[in-house]
Amino acid sequence: MHLKAASAIIIGLAAASASALPKTPEWWKPKSWSNPTQQRFRTAELGPRPQFLVTDMEEGWLKDKLRSCSDAVARPSQFSIGHRGGACLQFPEETRESAEAGMRMGAGILECDVAFTSDRQLVCRHDQCDLHTTTNIVATALGAKCTTPFAAADGNGTAASAYCCTSDITLAEFKSLCGKMDGYNASATTPEDYLRGTPAWRTDLYATCGTVLAHKEFLELVDSRGRDFTTELKQPRVPMPFDGNYTQEVYAQQVIDEYRAAGIDPSRVWLQSFSFADVAYWLRADPAFGKQAVLLDQSGDTPGTFPAAVANLSFYKEAGVQVIAPPLQYLVSLGENNEYVPSSYATAAKKLGFKILTWSLERSGPLAQAAAAGDYYYSTITNGTHRDGDMYRLIDVLARQVGVQGIFSDWSATVTYYANCFNIF
Ligand SMILES: *[C@@H]1O[C@H](CO)[C@@H](O)[C@H](O)[C@H]1NC(C)=O
Ligand SMILES: *[C@@H]1O[C@H](CO)[C@@H](O)[C@H](O)[C@H]1NC(C)=O
Ligand SMILES: *[C@@H]1O[C@H](CO)[C@@H](O)[C@H](O)[C@H]1NC(C)=O
Ligand SMILES: *[C@@H]1O[C@H](CO)[C@@H](O)[C@H](O)[C@H]1NC(C)=O
Ligand SMILES: *[C@@H]1O[C@H](CO)[C@@H](O)[C@H](O)[C@H]1NC(C)=O
Repeated sequence: MHLKAASAIIIGLAAASASALPKTPEWWKPKSWSNPTQQRFRTAELGPRPQFLVTDMEEGWLKDKLRSCSDAVARPSQFSIGHRGGACLQFPEETRESAEAGMRMGAGILECDVAFTSDRQLVCRHDQCDLHTTTNIVATALGAKCTTPFAAADGNGTAASAYCCTSDITLAEFKSLCGKMDGYNASATTPEDYLRGTPAWRTDLYATCGTVLAHKEFLELVDSRGRDFTTELKQPRVPMPFDGNYTQEVYAQQVIDEYRAAGIDPSRVWLQSFSFADVAYWLRADPAFGKQAVLLDQSGDTPGTFPAAVANLSFYKEAGVQVIAPPLQYLVSLGENNEYVPSSYATAAKKLGFKILTWSLERSGPLAQAAAAGDYYYSTITNGTHRDGDMYRLIDVLARQVGVQGIFSDWSATVTYYANCFNIF
């Protein structure tokens, strides 16, 4: 039945996929913003990935337990934090589509990283200067406004380059861009070719023009679904104060002001920063927001710096920080049989009474490959990591032994599934 129609569709698809990101920006147009629907989605849609991971686990009680939940109706959980929207494994990061998919997959808390535009508006971007790898800017007229406009690879070993910042353009200009998968083509000789660089284990299927967001739009979207918020204040890439009197504190305060203006209760908001000064500012300026502010800690990336990072936890505690968020690998190490166990950092943070969040799951691609390549997030547990199913052993140690209260993930379903199975909401 309908064979003709079906084969016509298949031909159409084949033609389109020959060029995942089209040369002509014609159908790659920004979508107009319309108010989000009010549908809250009381259930979560988890798709096939949790089952794929569980099936891949080695035999044991954890696999049996997780398998026993395979037919249950899932609900959103605050344990599941949508990193860069919560679906950036497959959707353009920090876009409306990533947040919508993250919420559909049960993320109870959604992340927007903020950077500022030339007219001092807050927008969701993981880095103030990543527009050349996360949007189509170099292939638009706005590419001329970049701090460093696109320059082609010369074929003699000099890579293609570009460096484009939110502060190079206004909010209105930013809104004319399309969000895409993070990546670039270092051998590009044209701006259009520069846009292509998505790792093979991600996909361009949904990169048809991700809707980029102002922070205010993000608040409206997430609030309309009744979920909670985590805004990260990204480090400025321009000297501060910017444009005369835009200081770091004005920037940090602007985030709170937007929450206040939107009427969102501080209990629903986890502000984050890697800068202790930002967290200290929030604690001082607005304790209702400050008491849930999250200090992101990346000070112990090497075996040489790790002990100082552990030691410094008591300094942060005394300063009033209540939530600490190191990357995954700080919290785990390997036991005698290469099993995952809590690390010295985890033990110290727990003892000091911190709430602990951690980041980011599902950023590493296939795990055997990632471990072999010395992936950042698995660097302390490389020798105990062999298969994708190990991800649930990691989540289990983090949840039940370290006691983390939430895990940022690039694919929210993976964490939501665990949370539902262990009744963590
Ligand atoms: C690249 O190298 C070739 C051979 O040395 C030279 O002829 C050519 O001009 C170089 N191109 C650029 C853009 O530097
Ligand atoms: C990268 O750019 C080069 C030169 O423009 C092009 O030949 C190549 O196909 C591009 N790679 C991808 C993945 O599009
Ligand atoms: C910054 O300066 C502008 C004009 O120079 C002024 O309108 C604005 O109120 C100042 N903002 C702050 C926070 O001082
Ligand atoms: C502890 O953290 C503070 C604030 O980030 C920093 O100024 C200080 O140098 C750190 N101390 C050590 C020993 O790393
Ligand atoms: C992992 O195993 C390899 C080979 O057995 C060994 O050389 C290496 O030191 C181990 N790495 C760690 C962090 O234990």
